[in-house]
Amino acid sequence: MNYYITTPIYYPNSSPHIGTAYTTILADAIARLRRLNGDNVHFLTGTDENSQKIVRMAEAAGVDPQAYVDRVVESFRKLWQCLEITNDDFIRTTESRHHKVVQELFARLQAQGDIYKGEYQGWYCTPCETFWPENKLVNGCCPNEDCRREVTWLTEESYFFRLSRYQERLLRHIEENPDFIHPVSRRNEMIRFIEGGLDDLSISRSSIRWGIKVPGDPEHVIYVWMDALVNYISALGYPDGPLYAAYWPADVHVMAKDIVRFHTVIWPILLMAAGIPLPKKVVAHGWYLDREGSKISKSRGNVQDSFGLIQCYGSDAVRYYLLKEMPFGQDGTYGEEALVERINSDLANDLGNFVSRTLAMVEKYCGGVVPVPHSDGEAQRELQALAAEAADTLEEKLMAGDGAGAVEALWRLVGWANRYVDTSAPWVLARDPEKRTELETTLYTFVECVRILGLLAAPLMPGVPVKLQKLLDVQGDGRNFFGAWENAKKWRLVPPGTRVRKGEPLFPRIDLDQLLAEREARDEAEEYIEPIKPEIDIEDFAKLDLRVVKILAAEKVPKTDKLIKLTVKLGAEERVVVSGIAQHYKPEDLVGRSVVLVANLKPAKLRGIVSQGMVLAASHEGSLEVLSLDHPMPPGAGVK
Ligand code: MSP
Repeated sequence: MNYYITTPIYYPNSSPHIGTAYTTILADAIARLRRLNGDNVHFLTGTDENSQKIVRMAEAAGVDPQAYVDRVVESFRKLWQCLEITNDDFIRTTESRHHKVVQELFARLQAQGDIYKGEYQGWYCTPCETFWPENKLVNGCCPNEDCRREVTWLTEESYFFRLSRYQERLLRHIEENPDFIHPVSRRNEMIRFIEGGLDDLSISRSSIRWGIKVPGDPEHVIYVWMDALVNYISALGYPDGPLYAAYWPADVHVMAKDIVRFHTVIWPILLMAAGIPLPKKVVAHGWYLDREGSKISKSRGNVQDSFGLIQCYGSDAVRYYLLKEMPFGQDGTYGEEALVERINSDLANDLGNFVSRTLAMVEKYCGGVVPVPHSDGEAQRELQALAAEAADTLEEKLMAGDGAGAVEALWRLVGWANRYVDTSAPWVLARDPEKRTELETTLYTFVECVRILGLLAAPLMPGVPVKLQKLLDVQGDGRNFFGAWENAKKWRLVPPGTRVRKGEPLFPRIDLDQLLAEREARDEAEEYIEPIKPEIDIEDFAKLDLRVVKILAAEKVPKTDKLIKLTVKLGAEERVVVSGIAQHYKPEDLVGRSVVLVANLKPAKLRGIVSQGMVLAASHEGSLEVLSLDHPMPPGAGVK
């Protein structure tokens, strides 16, 4: 069967982080599971590049937007490689294959009257690229709980998409297809939202240049969401590409809760209007939060260095941890200490130990050769039943987008395996020659269990079967010990006589204290600098008014040893500024210098003197240097 799965296309406004990684890992696990089930999978991810955020970031970095995205997109590709993501395609919305489809659809919807030209007046949130009706604002700010930033009032000519025309049809579709939106809490939320009434959507902007132009009206650029959603079909070569014929409608779009509304309102209506079948399912997971409870996001500046994490702990461990710690339908909390704990307890102790005990015992009691099993007993029947149940539950959970549930299903089997080692106590059996057949059946059962665990782990931690293969296939005759998913329900697939070896531990234990100490030593060795503050937008920076001023007079403020009162010239104006530089400068040395002033800082009273601004200075470990100009500029000149 053909199976088409997608992730959102991410904004390449900075490198990917563990939040974006989570969605991609979850989608990858599903894609891998489908492949093991024999499906022809097409797995798509990519980047959403036509947004205003990109323009602002590029401006701040002093490069053109295309050069900027080209650079960031590389870090996405690289991270997905490090995480062993098996996407079949990577779409970039700056590609012509995408532009073509967006413009073609726009023109078609316009010709049939679903897109019309009007005038837009409303509140626009630039960071979210979204127009909001007045009644949805929260305290006059963007209602997106992750944003809550100021909105701007816009009046401009705009094209509109007739969402309202399709409201009833969409509701009917959601009601008749209970599988369309997962989980059910999101489905109910969307039904309420749609029942609240859909306004026609403004889908073009005339004040910006970056993006896809409206066909026949190049003064207008198409709204970034209208453009981005189309990636799911443009990547397939809609309307007549062979991939489109084979894979559309998508089996599932995976994403977090923040963008469900776009995927279950705008996207299906766009498709309905264009006469294209709707995707079968939209699965929404929660957010990764930091330990303070804030969403992990680029704009909050609390993102982890994902490359560093993978380098330190390995891709399987990061994948395992992220899948496990996001409870289905809720948010998850990320913390590096918790990650190390999971590695030590779940991966090194539970899974890793079972594997190394099994292989060590086969080495010790059977000379490293898998023994011939004798007749099955209770334990063998129990393992077969549990393995089949684990395979079914894991599949059911993963297909519903519940990564944590999938991990749990696998761990039930890991738990059983470890208990079975303890209860069967092969070291006791080994002492009694009469128990030899029992010992052999027991050890064979362990090895079968290793095989089944390796197979079930494959979608979640693809490195596990690869490592196990090396331990099981010592002779290197290339036999694949795992094969298709259904093999988890089969019994006695490892041929007796197979040579195995204990090898290196699957997941070495990590000494957190030692790791932290090493890190600290490294940080100390490098020059310490204060942490960089969270990213700001260019607009935030533009609020600062920095000016060159000339110091006309300087005197110490009585009864303090820190403050100097400066009289400075700013254009025709004279200002008084109090500056905390007395320990570093003699007043007389400052007179005549041209320095930089924050000219629009709210005046503040210091020691009874109203200070009208702040002089900029560099400081490091107790030393301080006022920023001054090598060659004077007229007082009042701007600094940018
Ligand atoms: N470009 C749009 C999506 C267009 S799809 C047609 C966008 N991009 S984004 O870069 O902001 O990515 C949002 C998605 O990234 C979320 O829906 C989710 O899949 C993932 N995540 C980003 N931060 C996340 C967390 N902190 N936690 C979990 N997932 C997160 O929206």
